[in-house]
Amino acid sequence: MNDWTHGYVADVSYDYSFFPELAPISVVFQLLDKSFFPPSLQKFNYCELGCGQGFTTNILAATHPQAEFWGVDFNPTHAAEAQRLAQAAQLQNIHLCDQSFAEFLEADTPEFDFITLHGVYSWIGEENRRIIVELLRRKLKCGGAVYISYNTLPGWSAVMPLRDLMVQYTGGSADSTVQKVEKGLAFAKQLQEVKARYFLENPTVKYDLKEMQGDSRNYLAHEYFSRHWQPLYHSEVVQQLADAKLTFTTSADIDDQFHNLKLNDNQLNLLAGITDATLRETIRDFMFNSRFRRDLFVKGPIKLNTLEKVELLSNCRFALVVLPEEIEYEIDLVGRPIKLDETIYQPLVAALGERPQTLRELMRQPSLSKLDFAALLQAIKILITTETVVPALSAAEEEQRQQTVAQLNTAILKRSRFGADTQILASPITGGGIDVSRSEQLFLLAHQRQVDPVQFIWNILQVQGEKLIKDGKVLDSPEANQAELRIQAQRFADLRLPLLERLGVRY
Ligand SMILES: C[S@@+](CC[C@H](N)C(=O)[O-])C[C@H]1O[C@@H](n2cnc3c(N)ncnc32)[C@H](O)[C@@H]1O
Repeated sequence: MNDWTHGYVADVSYDYSFFPELAPISVVFQLLDKSFFPPSLQKFNYCELGCGQGFTTNILAATHPQAEFWGVDFNPTHAAEAQRLAQAAQLQNIHLCDQSFAEFLEADTPEFDFITLHGVYSWIGEENRRIIVELLRRKLKCGGAVYISYNTLPGWSAVMPLRDLMVQYTGGSADSTVQKVEKGLAFAKQLQEVKARYFLENPTVKYDLKEMQGDSRNYLAHEYFSRHWQPLYHSEVVQQLADAKLTFTTSADIDDQFHNLKLNDNQLNLLAGITDATLRETIRDFMFNSRFRRDLFVKGPIKLNTLEKVELLSNCRFALVVLPEEIEYEIDLVGRPIKLDETIYQPLVAALGERPQTLRELMRQPSLSKLDFAALLQAIKILITTETVVPALSAAEEEQRQQTVAQLNTAILKRSRFGADTQILASPITGGGIDVSRSEQLFLLAHQRQVDPVQFIWNILQVQGEKLIKDGKVLDSPEANQAELRIQAQRFADLRLPLLERLGVRY
């Protein structure tokens, strides 16, 4: 038994991921939208606790060379992997260590403007949760923001026994965690097939089990097989973080704003009658049976008046992250199709399709002049929820960012020769990551090396014994694979490359 793990899974690495809500600009936009004064993006210190493979921290460090980043994860394989990427990209503003939260608490660091922890707080024991609260108390600046995500009650109440079952069934064995995942899933399935009453009386659980069968085993190991696993009520987290002088401000998830549209009048009236904000938020979780929350807390929040809010939001820039022709004007926002008003959205998309723009610039567009500020902001937020627009960094110092972004992207592209772990590249415009699949990364790498993309990729696939799949069928012959690669290369050059160029995805 490894003592340093405190029961946390350490024999298998976590997946590589980039979480856009952890980007400083996303935190800033969410706070401004709810009329809170945000931390500055000019020069800041950012810390990600439990950063896993450090992919998010690396992307953020590359896109914010003016700031300093810390990534903390006690798993030395995670820390080493994060350092490997940072070194390959020659990033100078990132500090990655394999300290535990307890060790980091005592480490000599500056105070932070942003502290983020994603997928951590529910998966550690009470003692470590207390250490995190102490860490936030000591190391967050006044006015600093905390992003914290956690598994939420009541959403997990039906599924908690399924997790306990898998852990108890495999607990005594000397198997690796991934083997335990397989055995735990198989046993749960058996129990379902013999119609155990737990499954019959909790009918939704079978869907969870089905979904788990398709999830990555590394993810499942970390999600369910650590010793500690504690979904929390929002009210409990608010109470715990109050010890660090933190105040809940808003959800970090913009979709959350639109969830109220799913409530009927009776539900809305019931919620409106609850005057305590924390209780109201918790009852809202009962309305939606919420399972997961992404919350933003601030140490010493300052409320903006309307004029200040409009001024600061007017300077926020937004970027279109798909091609204008890919936009759908009928969207599923509240569980039913909603038609977007094309007289508003088409000119807005066209303007953002030309270049990223601030709200102030958009307001000046003749085609958008009939919209007032609130209507324009609402339209932008709807485009953000549909993942077609993202908040972007200000145009100032974009050149400085391009350099570090190109360094990181080149390091990621080189890795794409060996596998599909890191299917994200950094953008100096959005200040975050953009989805770029492995095959697209290989096209970019071929372009960088000025070689024929088809031959280049086919050589890599051959060495790795891989073949392309088309219409559900494996393409067997080299000719068929090369012909398909040629089609994909053309499609990439026509459709994706212009978008990546517009988003400044240099390499
Ligand atoms: C579920 S993973 C989330 C990783 C990353 N934040 C993400 O969402 O991709 C939780 C991470 O917390 C780290 N961790 C757990 N307990 C820790 C502790 N006491 N000190 C430092 N890191 C810890 C684990 O090693 C793991 O990488």
